[in-house]
Amino acid sequence: MKKESRITDSLPLTDSLLPGVFSKLVLIAFVVTFVVVVLGAWVRLSLPLAIAALVVFQALLGMWTVTLLLKPAIVMAHLLGGMTILALLWLLLLRSAGMLRAPPIAGLLRAPPIAGLRGLAYAAVAVVALQIALGGWTSANYAALACPDFPTCQAEWWPDMDFKEGFVLWREVGVDYEGGLLDLPARAAIHKAHRLGALFTLLFVGALALTLWLRGRQRVWRGLGVAIGGMLLLQVLVGVLTVVRGHPLALAAAHNAGAALLLLSVVALAYAAARNR
Ligand code: HEM
Repeated sequence: MKKESRITDSLPLTDSLLPGVFSKLVLIAFVVTFVVVVLGAWVRLSLPLAIAALVVFQALLGMWTVTLLLKPAIVMAHLLGGMTILALLWLLLLRSAGMLRAPPIAGLLRAPPIAGLRGLAYAAVAVVALQIALGGWTSANYAALACPDFPTCQAEWWPDMDFKEGFVLWREVGVDYEGGLLDLPARAAIHKAHRLGALFTLLFVGALALTLWLRGRQRVWRGLGVAIGGMLLLQVLVGVLTVVRGHPLALAAAHNAGAALLLLSVVALAYAAARNR
């Protein structure tokens, strides 16, 4: 990592705060949230309780985003926290009585099940979540411009990349991370990992959408397959356009919204596959 000179001696926000205390606080907050979510699930009070705990944790992450000077791990966790809260609220809505009676959901729950769908749907949620984390890491490390061309990166298929440096998740506290601190090879590695992740997501979730279309005998399964496939293609297209158009704000925002919609669509699939047995 370069630019050690940016390590601050005099930043007022961090001056009085011991770095060790902060990292311990982050760890404690993670453990508390984990325990609350697991206990909540255990006593089946789960969802509203888990959402409430996550909202509190999300507020803490928002505070640390500022006080820890845009530390990439915190910025990425803040994005993941927002996405998780959105997905859980969506799940709460899907489980509500009104939604269970709404034609598309009711139709999905009544439709003949597709063998092996549940495991694949859970895996799709995990794949999309991981891809969102990689996207968050890309933007938190200001790695968007490390590969300004597509499909190549710096006019090469495999440019100089430093994956080891690019994926150090926790760095020192008291450093101002605005604008990013990593060298070009580390940023290129992060950007490239997000592209490779997108390719894997496209193949995996795309195959699942195609399966729904081909094997779903009911119109609702096929409709969900088309919705997931469409959102996936749109998300990849917006990602590519973000790169080739030089990363305009509107496209970056659309890319973020697209990720949220894709996540919600695979969560709906996982919910329907779990209930439909
Ligand atoms: C299913 C596929 C994809 C998903 C779910 C996804 C998701 C995301 C997410 C959640 C972010 C973080 C946005 C933010 O923090 O504001 C992001 C950032 C980014 N993605 Fe993707 N992405 C996908 C595919 C692609 C593809 C194919 C490309 C380009 C070839 C791409 C290029 C980028 C770039 C350059 C950024 C950084 C944007 C910034 O710094 O604001 N993505 N992605």
